[in-house]
Amino acid sequence: MLSVFLLILFVSFSVVIFFGAPYLPTLKKEKIEAIALLDLRKGELFLELGSGDGRMLKAMAKNQVFCIGYELNPLLVLISKVICWRQREYITIKWANFWNEKLPNADGIYVFLLDKYMEKLNSKIFKQKNSHPIKLVSYAFEIPKKKYEKKKGPLYLYKY
Ligand SMILES: C[S@@+](CC[C@H](N)C(=O)[O-])C[C@H]1O[C@@H](n2cnc3c(N)ncnc32)[C@H](O)[C@@H]1O
Repeated sequence: MLSVFLLILFVSFSVVIFFGAPYLPTLKKEKIEAIALLDLRKGELFLELGSGDGRMLKAMAKNQVFCIGYELNPLLVLISKVICWRQREYITIKWANFWNEKLPNADGIYVFLLDKYMEKLNSKIFKQKNSHPIKLVSYAFEIPKKKYEKKKGPLYLYKY
C-alpha cells in the first residue's frame, strides 16, 4: 500500500517536468510583492499557470478577485482545493495542462516556470489576447526580448 502511494507521489511530481516547471512554491514575501505588482481590483480575473498548492490563489481571492488556477499535478490540485476551500466562491482550480487551454480574458497572470518556457508563454499570450490589457508577473525568469515594466527582486512585471 505504501509503495503504491509512493509511486503515485513520484509519478505526480515527476511527469510535470515534461510539460513545465517542477513544484517549487513562491515564498511569502514574493507572494505579497507579486500581488502588489499585479494590483488587481475587486471583480477582476486572475490566472495562475501552474498553481501549485494554491497559496497565491488564496491570497489573491482575499481581495475579491476571481481566480483560476491551472495545475497538472493531481495531488497539488487536491491539496490546493482544500487550502482554497473557504475562498471557493472566487477560486476555480483546473486539473489541466495550461499549454492546451484556451485562456479566458484575464486582467492578471502569474507564472513561476523555467527559463526555457518563457518564449513559448509569450507567444501563447500574444496569440490568444484581444484588446483587453493583461498584466503578467513572472517569478525569476524574464521573457526574452520583451521589456518589463517593473522589476521587484526576482519578480518581473510585463504588460500586454
Ligand atoms: C515552480 S512551481 C510554482 C507553483 C506556484 N505557482 C507557486 O508559485 O507557488 C510550478 C508549478 O507548475 C505546475 N506545472 C508545470 N507545468 C504545468 C503545465 N504545463 N500545466 C499545468 N501546471 C503545470 C507544476 O506542477 C508546479 O506546481
